[in-house]
Amino acid sequence: MKRILVLGSANIDIVLATQSLPKPGETVMGSDVERHFGGKGANQAVAARRLGGEVEFGGVVGSDSDGQMYTNHLRKENIGLRGLRTSHARPTGCALITVDAQGTNTIVVAPGANGAFLTPLGDSVEEAIRQAEYILLQFEIPAEANVAIIERARGFGKKVILNPSPMNVEFFQRRLPIDTIILNETELGSITGGGDSKDEAALAKHGKDLLAFNIRCAVLTRGALGAMCITEDDAFSVPAPKIEPVDTVGAGDTFAGAYAVALAEGKDAREAIYFANHAAALSALKRGAQSSIPTRAEVMEFIQKQRN
Ligand code: RIB
Repeated sequence: MKRILVLGSANIDIVLATQSLPKPGETVMGSDVERHFGGKGANQAVAARRLGGEVEFGGVVGSDSDGQMYTNHLRKENIGLRGLRTSHARPTGCALITVDAQGTNTIVVAPGANGAFLTPLGDSVEEAIRQAEYILLQFEIPAEANVAIIERARGFGKKVILNPSPMNVEFFQRRLPIDTIILNETELGSITGGGDSKDEAALAKHGKDLLAFNIRCAVLTRGALGAMCITEDDAFSVPAPKIEPVDTVGAGDTFAGAYAVALAEGKDAREAIYFANHAAALSALKRGAQSSIPTRAEVMEFIQKQRN
């Protein structure tokens, strides 16, 4: 199994369930507060590990009790932590999340220590890059750190998978080489100006526009509609299993982690999307980001049930 290195954020998620999301200026009543482990980077690392990958994670947590708790948690998940550092200046990252009765959410991230993921990357992160095959990135750490990671990864001949969330359109002007980008329709629209179509041919065209940014393969996630894969020579869609979502927080991260695991096992893009669609669907059936990420056995059982 080829190793996956996830470099990115770790947040404590503070989650409130509400009947409907508040509009600007509106006050609504919510549930009791729940705290979950979150952050797109750590979520994707936990997903990749639970789904059978050999995984390392690098990021920055605070020297507070949340940071200590988070480190212990990742250790218990059997994730390599060579690249994890502690900031004495910034608190552990935090995200405020509201989820409505339909499972739709809003998220505001206070990056805290994630913002201290600085360059130069340091020996431990460089060594972790050298020893991995797939480098999985998101946009919750400073852009300059991601630039340095991608340059180093390419120098070592590694494959870069980028989940550009939260979106930073300027980043793409640099045209850094990306093997696979995993993004949703809104993110596609931010980069190419088109992504709101329901028509697959139109989405494939916008996906191809994305490849002009030095990207080899675009995987477009479309929630209940499944996901599309777009390369220079091909564009195809893989449907998602039908579910009644309870909470979609972390579903995109589960998809990204699952996709990386499938590639690391030698699966092709179609098989990888099929596996990732099922893992993401299962994660939307429970509350919380990491608390809802399924194990590999659960995904295999779910796939089997769907086939019967
Ligand atoms: O993708 C979901 C994640 O986004 C949450 O866990 C939250 O921490 C934010 O990073």
